[in-house]
Amino acid sequence: MGFRVSFGLSALVFIAGKAESILDHPQHIPGFVVPWSTDVAADHYHRFREDLAFAKQMKFTSHRFSISWSRVLPTGGVDNINKEGVQFYTDYINEVIKNGMEPMVTMLHFDQPYTLELATGGWDSSAMIDKYVEYADFLFKTFGDKVKYWNTLNEPNMYCSYFRILMAQSVAPDNSKFYQCLHNIILAHMKSYKLYEKNYRQTQKGKVGISVLMLPPTPKTKNEEDLVAAETFNQVYVGSLVQPIVSGDYPPLVRYLVDKRDADEGLGRHRLPAFTPEEKEILAEGVTDFIALNVYGGCTASYRHNESAIPNPALLPGPSAEDIPFADIDCSSDFGQIDESVMHNALIWIWNTYHVPIIVAENGYGDSKHAGVNDQARAAYHSANLRALVQSIREYGVKVLAYYTWSLIDVFEFSAGYDGRPFGLVHVDYQNGSLNRTLKNSAQFFIQLNETGRVPFVPAPREPDDTSAGTAFSVSLEVFFLSLLGTVGLWLFAG
Ligand SMILES: *[C@@H]1O[C@H](CO)[C@@H](O)[C@H](O)[C@H]1NC(C)=O
Ligand SMILES: *[C@@H]1O[C@H](CO)[C@@H](O)[C@H](O)[C@H]1NC(C)=O
Ligand SMILES: *[C@@H]1O[C@H](CO)[C@@H](O)[C@H](O)[C@H]1NC(C)=O
Ligand SMILES: *[C@@H]1O[C@H](CO)[C@@H](O)[C@H](O)[C@H]1NC(C)=O
Repeated sequence: MGFRVSFGLSALVFIAGKAESILDHPQHIPGFVVPWSTDVAADHYHRFREDLAFAKQMKFTSHRFSISWSRVLPTGGVDNINKEGVQFYTDYINEVIKNGMEPMVTMLHFDQPYTLELATGGWDSSAMIDKYVEYADFLFKTFGDKVKYWNTLNEPNMYCSYFRILMAQSVAPDNSKFYQCLHNIILAHMKSYKLYEKNYRQTQKGKVGISVLMLPPTPKTKNEEDLVAAETFNQVYVGSLVQPIVSGDYPPLVRYLVDKRDADEGLGRHRLPAFTPEEKEILAEGVTDFIALNVYGGCTASYRHNESAIPNPALLPGPSAEDIPFADIDCSSDFGQIDESVMHNALIWIWNTYHVPIIVAENGYGDSKHAGVNDQARAAYHSANLRALVQSIREYGVKVLAYYTWSLIDVFEFSAGYDGRPFGLVHVDYQNGSLNRTLKNSAQFFIQLNETGRVPFVPAPREPDDTSAGTAFSVSLEVFFLSLLGTVGLWLFAG
């Protein structure tokens, strides 16, 4: 990687009044990825008009983006509003709408203000709950006349496991706090949802949901014990977040497993907190209008016959997988695989378990082997996944409101930097440092999809060293017609 930023501490991170977030902080410590480079990254801050014009060119009808808490409320509270930050997002939202797209806002994408993190102890502490609700109230009040789709928090199940560990330089990770972190986030979401319902829904008429990362497990065999391992992993990793929000409490199986391990290890306390009767009552009413599903790769689940064997180091699901002593969960971190069964399995499980409308909020292809603009593999990926999605709607009655791709432009990826895993539909020239944008070939897929009203079939390209006869997925899949889906209102978005 030739690209280095030499702006030093000249306060680019504090541009226009923005404060350091917990995501910025570790990037400012020498040795962490590419120190300081993330202050500019793709410079979307200055080039968003150009980027949104690309989204329009690809005929997307909505755009998902996040508001940075530390840009609008640098110290976390409404006692310190950064007017320039508010103006930036006002301009941004207007530009999204001007380009014919519906804005969908993620209110917190792992990046709370660093000083707030220090003051509260972060999401491990219940002190964050009211600070978040204050922030949510501020966003609804300030932007809610134009923003109708709110995603309160991004992937809390991922944040409370993997990201807290990844940001070890920033916060002290404590695996035993995984459930405490989730619990506080669930309560913050619940209170924000109720606040919207009480003060804003009638006038603003929007929807509020929360996003979850799913790592759909495929049972290794058809044997019952492997099916149980897969189902249990879904309940622990996804159910711990979604079930309370949909029906009032943690899944009984999760309560049993976590309490049992606490007792076996003589911990003397419950890692999985309990909701009060009042909280359960509110949660049981259902406090989400949709589930924002983020889905990339899947896992394999198998029964572990020897419970004392060392568990598989399952990095992604983190501490949650360790609470299933009888399962080995092996997750792929390969973002360059085309396997539409992952999308299918995720949609079927979420819908059949919760019956809440789904927005696929992230799904994308990131592979350094296809880093340039010639990215047929990316078009093949979206083709396979969208056909699986449409099939799930038509054949299984899954209710999907929208599909967003990750991502509009090549972005900084936490563990892979700028070049390791480009996901964009628009190439960003990080090597030359020009940050020049170029539409990738896969953009044609989305243009064609819009113009024809159907999901184009794109075969997966053969790798030069691939001597196998087949392609990565069957060609016998039908082409499904989006125009037949009138009632589900499928939108196609770039996030
Ligand atoms: C195609 O794009 C146009 C303009 O962006 C939009 O109004 C229309 O709804 C899109 N159609 C489909 C099927 O997505
Ligand atoms: C179970 O695994 C442990 C740890 O790897 C090992 O010491 C033990 O011999 C195993 N037991 C059986 C019955 O395989
Ligand atoms: C960036 O530099 C590389 C290597 O010098 C060159 O191949 C490439 O074409 C350049 N990109 C642009 C957009 O000029
Ligand atoms: C980047 O784009 C600008 C404007 O189109 C152009 O003048 C410049 O040569 C480009 N730089 C590189 C390195 O491609």
